[in-house]
Amino acid sequence: SSADQLVIPSRSPSNKVSILTLNRPKALNALSTPLFQALNAELEKAEADDTVRAIVITGGEKVFAAGADIKEMKDKEIAEAYTTNFLGSWNKIASIRKPIVGAVAGYALGGGCELAMLCDILIATPKATFGQPEISLGIIPGMGGSQRLTSLVGKTRAMDMVLTGRKIDGLTAERWGLVSRVTEEGQSVVEEAVKVAETIAGFGKVAVQAGKEAVNASLDLPLEQGLRLERRLFQQLFATQDQKEGMAAFAEKRKPTWSDK
Ligand code: HXC
Repeated sequence: SSADQLVIPSRSPSNKVSILTLNRPKALNALSTPLFQALNAELEKAEADDTVRAIVITGGEKVFAAGADIKEMKDKEIAEAYTTNFLGSWNKIASIRKPIVGAVAGYALGGGCELAMLCDILIATPKATFGQPEISLGIIPGMGGSQRLTSLVGKTRAMDMVLTGRKIDGLTAERWGLVSRVTEEGQSVVEEAVKVAETIAGFGKVAVQAGKEAVNASLDLPLEQGLRLERRLFQQLFATQDQKEGMAAFAEKRKPTWSDK
C-alpha cells in the first residue's frame, strides 16, 4: 500500500511531469537511507522514461524534510560511515539531466535543506522553514549545506545559518536567493511547482537539457571555460530541428511544434 512507500510517484494530468512525494509523515520525512534509496530509484526511472519531461520533488503541503534521520545516524561509527560511503548516494540527484523543481512547505532542515538545494528550481510557501541546524547536534552539514548554500546566499548568511543554526522563512529565502518563487498564502506549492515543470515540459527537450547543463557548468568552471562551454552548446543547437522550427514559427507568427530533434 502507499503507506509503506517511502516515495510516492505520480504524474501531472499531462503525464509529462513526474511528481515524487516523500512519504514518512510520522518522522517529518526524515531522510533515512531507505528513503534515499527509494528516491534515487524513482529518479532513475523518471530519467529513463521518455514521456517524463520534468520532475517535481516535494514532501507535500505540510513538511518537506526535517533532515537526515538522526536516529539512524546517532550510533554510527567512523569505520562504517567511511566504508559504506555514508551519504555518497545522495549525489545521485546531481547527475539527473532532466530539470527538477523542488516544492517546499514546512520544514526543510539539515539534509532537507540540502535536498532542496539539489533541485534546479525551488518554490516555497512564505512560511516554509529553511535551516542547517546540524551545529546543535555536534556536526556540520554533509550534503552541500556549506557549499551550495554559500554560493546561493553568500558567505555571511551561510555562516550565520551554519554556525548559529538560524532558521529562515520562505519569504526570506526568496529575498536571499535560496528559492526562486514563493506561493501566495493558501496556494498549493505542489501545484505551483507542477505548473513551472509543465512550462519547461512544453519546450524542446534538447534545448532544455542544454540550458540545465550550461547553468550547472557555471557552478564548477572558471568563467572563461564556462563561457566556452555555453558558446559550444549554443552553436550546436543550430544543428537541431527545434532551432529551425522555433525561429521559423516566430517569423511566421505561429506556435512552434517541437520535435525534440
Ligand atoms: C529522525 C526525526 C527528525 C530527524 C523529526 N523527527 N526530525 N526523526 N530524524 N531529522 C521525528 C521526531 O523524532 C518525532 O518522532 C517526529 O519526527 C515528530 O517530530 P517532533 O520533534 O515531535 O515535531 P515538532 O515538535 O513539531 O518539531 C519539529 C522539528 C524537530 C523542529 C523539525 O522535529 C526537529 O528539530 N527535528 C530535527 C531537525 C534537525 O536537527 N535536522 C538536521 C538533522 S542532521 P517521534 O517518534 O518522537 O514521534 C542532518 C545532517 C545532514 O540533516 C547531513 C547530510 C545529509
